[in-house]
Amino acid sequence: MCGIFGYIGKKDAENLLIEGLENLEYRGYDSAGIAISNNNKVDIIKHAGKVEELKKVLKEKHLLGNVGIAHTRWATHGLPSELNAHPHTDILKKVTIVHNGIIENYLELKKEYNLKTITQSDTEVIASLLAIMPEKDNLEKIKNATKLFKGTYALAIIFSNEPNIIYLAKKESPLMVGKSGDDIFISSDANAFKKYCKDFYILKNNEFAKIKYNKIEFFNKSKKINKKINKFLNTFSFENKNKYLMQDEIVQTPDALRETATFFNNFKNIKNYFNNVNKIYLVACGTAYHSCLFGKKYLEFLNIPIFTEIASEFKYSKHLIDKNTLCIFVSQSGETADTLSCVKKCKCKTLAITNVPNSSITFACKKTILMKAGWERAVASTKAYSCQLLVFYLLKCLLKNEKAKTNTLIRKSKEYLNKLNLKSLASKVLNYEKIMFIGRQGDYITAKESALKLKEISYINCTACPSGELKHGTLALVDDKTLIFLISTQKNLISKNLLTKEEIEARGGKCLIAGDFDEADIVLPHLSSDLMPIISILPFQSLACEVSIQKGYNPDKPRNLSKSVTVE
Ligand code: G6P
Repeated sequence: MCGIFGYIGKKDAENLLIEGLENLEYRGYDSAGIAISNNNKVDIIKHAGKVEELKKVLKEKHLLGNVGIAHTRWATHGLPSELNAHPHTDILKKVTIVHNGIIENYLELKKEYNLKTITQSDTEVIASLLAIMPEKDNLEKIKNATKLFKGTYALAIIFSNEPNIIYLAKKESPLMVGKSGDDIFISSDANAFKKYCKDFYILKNNEFAKIKYNKIEFFNKSKKINKKINKFLNTFSFENKNKYLMQDEIVQTPDALRETATFFNNFKNIKNYFNNVNKIYLVACGTAYHSCLFGKKYLEFLNIPIFTEIASEFKYSKHLIDKNTLCIFVSQSGETADTLSCVKKCKCKTLAITNVPNSSITFACKKTILMKAGWERAVASTKAYSCQLLVFYLLKCLLKNEKAKTNTLIRKSKEYLNKLNLKSLASKVLNYEKIMFIGRQGDYITAKESALKLKEISYINCTACPSGELKHGTLALVDDKTLIFLISTQKNLISKNLLTKEEIEARGGKCLIAGDFDEADIVLPHLSSDLMPIISILPFQSLACEVSIQKGYNPDKPRNLSKSVTVE
């Protein structure tokens, strides 16, 4: 949610900043802007809309200079407009700033310090406050100003009296610094500068940095500090073969599964962490929450109470947490604020399952299992979801001392995806007003995830319902404008599901069955029941993507959404 990028070096900053913003666009894309220092002044260009729009403006008017900061925004305070886009400055342009996070008390600060502002953004208040701080030293100004903030922030700041220095401050929102020769890069996601740097530093909460040409200094609240350097983890290489990232990411699923299965061997000690566990909470948001629903099924054999909770609900509920309770937090990005705030609430055993090393949730949890799905940038999660299910399956095998059978899964998913073509099915979906996904047990969870995928990128109002529950209410919606996908991967439930199909068709609705048997309308490869959920979601991820494209949308950047939601 919002992306920060920065550069100091000998190269022209403009192109590097734009490239960085394009890499970070998955974090937000309603407006973007850059600020570059040149001849003791800081020039700013910003624009409403995607980075593409900003690029058009920069074609007409280039910004010269080797020191710059940039931002791509997902609006929280104030409409997505050019005025509210970052970088922001104080009224006298002494301070230029890009910000991720939310300053909750910005209106109080504005009143208390009588700050003059012209935008609706909380960030402008930060710039205005810094501009009136009495300290001589800019770092001291930042340290003292941040003491006044309630909320979260990752800040990159240029002062007009030190135009060749970028200052950083961080609390909760991620911020990283990479160095390669004379080039220094700043970003809210190290992947955005991975192409240039082999290693990088991660700012922790209440840390600061002062960066000038070829020199990075880190500070905590009281003194200068040394920081450990982090290496990028090797991950599988993949080509961008298709027009959209989401298409590529679905195709990468078998590789992501293979890498995740191999990497899981590094986490086998986690077995001991389950000793004496008396109950488990599985907590997450969105797609990751659906993988928790499967997680519960995979871990049910433990015969202890297992609860699944949506993070934004969990934090307001009362729980029976004691020192033998295990809370498992699932998050592709490791940065989702709702999930992170739950980790902080849990004074018990905590385990993160994430795809991003060194992310906030991995730092906050006592233990972590890392997936290796590779960088996922399309807003709708696909390959990471499949890997989350795989991790739960592998965890089950580990805890039960069973041999995991992943080779067939990887081979069959690759063969299946290679021949999958849902273009004509997608065009049929467009003929219906109402779309539903139904199933029983695990297939109902796949139905929920399928409905989420379709609605988030095609804006079709679709719903999921347990097959058996249809006749208790939702059947009233069924008419000849309704298309229902019935997911049926459990042999013992096929006859029940065929009855459900008849119920639907008797009301004029169209019902298509997805299953691992020849008579199904969408024929899935057959695997053991444990592994079927990892296969059965694939056609519905692809279908959602294809419907979105046929409706003329960009599936990678659905309206109103962001991949990494770092506000509660
Ligand atoms: C956002 C994304 C979803 C994602 C959810 C949780 O809502 O749009 O695709 O499932 O966040 O993200 P996480 O990174 O915690 O898995």
